[in-house]
Amino acid sequence: MNFEKILNERIELVNERLKAYLKPQYPEVIYEAMGYSVFAGGKRLRPLLLLGACEAAGGDLEEALGFACAIEMIHTYTLINDDLPAMDNDDFRRGKPTCHKAFSEDIAILAGDGLLNLGFETMLSDAVSKGDLKYTKAALTVGELCGVKGTIGGQVVDLLSEEKKADEETLLYIHKAKTSALIQAALKAGAIIGGADEKTLSEFDEIGYKLGIAFQIKDDILDITSTTEVLGKPVGSDDKNGKSTYVSVFGFEKANEDYLKLSREVCELLDKFGEKGAFLRTYAEKLIDRVN
Ligand code: IPE
Ligand code: IPE
Ligand code: MG
Ligand code: MG
Ligand code: MG
Repeated sequence: MNFEKILNERIELVNERLKAYLKPQYPEVIYEAMGYSVFAGGKRLRPLLLLGACEAAGGDLEEALGFACAIEMIHTYTLINDDLPAMDNDDFRRGKPTCHKAFSEDIAILAGDGLLNLGFETMLSDAVSKGDLKYTKAALTVGELCGVKGTIGGQVVDLLSEEKKADEETLLYIHKAKTSALIQAALKAGAIIGGADEKTLSEFDEIGYKLGIAFQIKDDILDITSTTEVLGKPVGSDDKNGKSTYVSVFGFEKANEDYLKLSREVCELLDKFGEKGAFLRTYAEKLIDRVN
């Protein structure tokens, strides 16, 4: 398998489809702001996971492309939101000024709302046009995991834990809810579209949980060890906001150890998908050494 070639083809496929969904129309400024944040950069992690899980479950990638774009729209909304002055108050994202800096705070809030809504519209439009209940089930899974029980709940407790040291249980809740949930959503929605049975879905639930915690541990580490140039977002943001992070709660050494342990467990869990899961397995392995 030529992993890099397939990776780039998939990113291109997602970006081309995203352009079509975000084609500017009246009132142009909101499309500009939504497109600005979506196309500023980004690794396209969640769409790649969604497509990879669809493939691992035996599905056709083309069938999952709308959902792959939707999950990136929803992810980008969380980033616009997370950077707002009332939240992490960061000025840089994906190598460019944040949405509220490039536009204005009011337009950035509406651009986030717009992307969240367009994400659901995109999924439900697929559900209606394809007439197969599995798309509705996939959309419901995303809804459950990006709502108050998932991403939003995690962001709430993240904010409530500023300027105090969260206990270990609370920190794990924050990381599971604010980060694992959307990663679980991507994997499970892809697997549902690929035709996965309940047992496979619960396997993807566990893979998403572990991958998400590992991903956020690394994000917390990079906030200390990296540079703004490499990350495309400010380093030291967590310290500035007095955040409870995996490093501040568990220490640097345990953060590194747990990161590697969880990452290895994810790779082992993906082994069972064999050839169909080869892309996803290689991607998870390459993520271990990510620098941004
Ligand atoms: C950033 O996500 C938010 C976290 C959950 C840590 P990514 O690191 O996937 O951001 P992009 O999409 O590449 O910009
Ligand atoms: C990310 O947490 C959680 C989201 C839901 C966006 P962070 O606040 O650490 O993410 P970055 O570091 O700003 O990307
Ligand atoms: Mg944050
Ligand atoms: Mg942040
Ligand atoms: Mg961070």
